[in-house]
Amino acid sequence: MRFKTIEWKDNSIRILDQTKLPKTEIYLKINTVRRLAESIKRLSIRGAPAIGVAAGYGVALSSLTSKTIDIKKTKKNIIKDIEMLQKTRPTAVNLFWALNRMKKIVEDYKERDAKGLHLTLLKEAKKIHSEDRELCRKIGENGARLVPDKANIMTHCNAGALATGGWGTALGVIYAAKKMGKNVHVYAGETRPLLQGARLTTWELQKNGIKVTLVVDSARASVIRQERIDLIIVGADRIASNGDVANKIGTYPLAILAKKHNVDFYVAAPSTTFDISLKSGFEIPIEERNADEVKSFSGTKTAPTSVSVFNPAFDVTPNELIKGIITENGILRKPYMKSIRKYIKKI
Ligand code: MRU
Repeated sequence: MRFKTIEWKDNSIRILDQTKLPKTEIYLKINTVRRLAESIKRLSIRGAPAIGVAAGYGVALSSLTSKTIDIKKTKKNIIKDIEMLQKTRPTAVNLFWALNRMKKIVEDYKERDAKGLHLTLLKEAKKIHSEDRELCRKIGENGARLVPDKANIMTHCNAGALATGGWGTALGVIYAAKKMGKNVHVYAGETRPLLQGARLTTWELQKNGIKVTLVVDSARASVIRQERIDLIIVGADRIASNGDVANKIGTYPLAILAKKHNVDFYVAAPSTTFDISLKSGFEIPIEERNADEVKSFSGTKTAPTSVSVFNPAFDVTPNELIKGIITENGILRKPYMKSIRKYIKKI
């Protein structure tokens, strides 16, 4: 990749500020957990796996910035910071998965040395990051087999290197197909209201030499009807045990279009995005964001100030619309209840 989405550098977290793309490539140096929490809420760092990686580093940062050498107080401060990070975004389960993993390290730490706790947490955060890189690589390889040569692939939002610790999930499949020598072309949906498709997916694909065409969300039906699409691949923020998938708002209508026009609709996601405590997608908490994101465009007012707005950031695609879920362990097929149970047991 020709950029670094997130890294631990000079005792702080360095992130590429995605709110500024594609105009400027600015990196933020984050040295407090509060700033990290704000950056996650603001979407400077976003995408389910990347939020998980950021949360891991956030806990390591907390142990560094805790202003005491008393281990009991340090642990208490870290738990408070974990609670702060838990409140940033509700839908991507990777956030909670990473925070629980880090919290367990804090709870299990038996030494009295606060510096030692920091080093242990930092090691774990770096492990979460490198594991995610590996998960993406495997997802890419597994999914690339589905991609025919000269494929036209449609995607939604951004499920690439900007959204993960590696080269991405849905876009990871595309990078892997290219690496295998296949010629691929991507249709990126712009993804209203925050334009992750237009601003981020096109930016990262172009940077990595993948041909991409941008379409507004409402043009997707026409493009699909014109038989220009071989398959659709999207990412996920949380997958329930029956295979229902929460992903960026606009994913569900895309899946309906795929069904109507007989196009295979795939979801690419690692094990860290599955939440088998939930029976179905109805139980997935859906983030509702600020009305201003809809009432203005690039700083210009586009709706009356007083109009009421409903702005859900995600929707849930019912499992029956999904042809397969591309994971690090292969492709899960229907019936998902059974294949997901088997897959989760294996890890
Ligand atoms: O609101 P965002 O930009 O964090 O939403 C991101 C998505 O919906 C992605 O598709 C999802 O997190 C998968 S990223 C590999």
